[in-house]
Amino acid sequence: MAGLRLLLALGALLPSILGQGLEEFFDASGDVVRGTAPETRIYWQSHLMTSRQRILQAADLADGTDVATVLGTGVGMEIPLAELARRFERLILVDLDGRSMLHGLRQVPSELRAKVDLKVMDVTSFAGPLIEQIEQAVEMSSTSEEAFDRFGVILDGLRAGDPPNLPKSDLVVSSLLLSEIPRYPFSYAAQAAEGRFAVTLQTWDRSDEFFRRLVELSIEDHVQLLAGLVRPGGVVYFSDTVARGLANKPRTEAIRRAVEAQAAPELIGLGIADSAAGVTSAVNDLCRARHSPAREAEALERLLSRFREADGRFFEPLLPIGELGDQCSKRGLEIRGESETWWWLAYPCKVLRQAGAFLVSSWVLGLRN
Ligand SMILES: C[S@@+](CC[C@H](N)C(=O)[O-])C[C@H]1O[C@@H](n2cnc3c(N)ncnc32)[C@H](O)[C@@H]1O
Repeated sequence: MAGLRLLLALGALLPSILGQGLEEFFDASGDVVRGTAPETRIYWQSHLMTSRQRILQAADLADGTDVATVLGTGVGMEIPLAELARRFERLILVDLDGRSMLHGLRQVPSELRAKVDLKVMDVTSFAGPLIEQIEQAVEMSSTSEEAFDRFGVILDGLRAGDPPNLPKSDLVVSSLLLSEIPRYPFSYAAQAAEGRFAVTLQTWDRSDEFFRRLVELSIEDHVQLLAGLVRPGGVVYFSDTVARGLANKPRTEAIRRAVEAQAAPELIGLGIADSAAGVTSAVNDLCRARHSPAREAEALERLLSRFREADGRFFEPLLPIGELGDQCSKRGLEIRGESETWWWLAYPCKVLRQAGAFLVSSWVLGLRN
């Protein structure tokens, strides 16, 4: 399954995860974001600005200003934490990675910090206990076959439980979180199996089924949390990475040339290429400090959009939007206003060679009257 390739970039942590506590595991995962080079972050600016703007627009729609809760806050890079602390009486930040939240708290001026409440806790009903079960299964097994049998029993018993206990909120922010939720337990299982038995999780014949079930459960569990947390008259800002590309490299150079030819007028307009004939070499020259990062980011976004129009298969879907919609209507959450979609150039200089860009979509939701 394509999604399995998307495991977090945690390979370097492999040998040491068993016996590590839940919070340490999340903390170590947070290193990936916390350690991103500043030159890469420059390319993230338009994504960060758009996200922050959208969150504040959602906050404008909430009836009250008592409590705002940010789920899976991490370092809060795409979340206007200072402005939320200013507007709301209380700002609750929730994540299992406490160090990243402390990092994020630096955004908030010291005079507003008393309003902010950091909660190092699981935002799901199942991820923490599941990681513990996986750890026990691996520790009790002497072969990978035995461990995979135990994983099978765990998989068959996976159910959503009661959502975590958090105060009712006027604004609930769930930003770039949901599609990450299943990856943590899945990565944990993969790393534990590899660290202990030197086998990949893919050698387990139910590994695809395991990931799919985790995605399904995460959606059900998260929507239940959102619907229970938001007050009547309050709003949920929800965003996630819905696709990533270029997942499959263009099969032939001809496709790539055709896409570049289509993008030529835009690239010339941006000052990236001088002429249609020079587009290919101009594209190859991106990320070599020939232009400002803002201009290069715009060029890359235009190219990605042209690739997406040319063939949807260049993009790997990340979140089953249909299932999400079904769960929302089941739980009484409905969409307010228009959704918005934009690019996050997570790994800007790899965008056209590997799957380095995410398509982000956002929605504002509220409880049906
Ligand atoms: C991609 S980040 C979201 C972006 C984030 N705003 C940032 O700037 O880092 C996903 C966050 O979700 C958190 N997370 C994932 N699963 C979680 C769980 N079950 N409970 C609590 N936090 C979780 C991770 O620790 C991580 O900080």
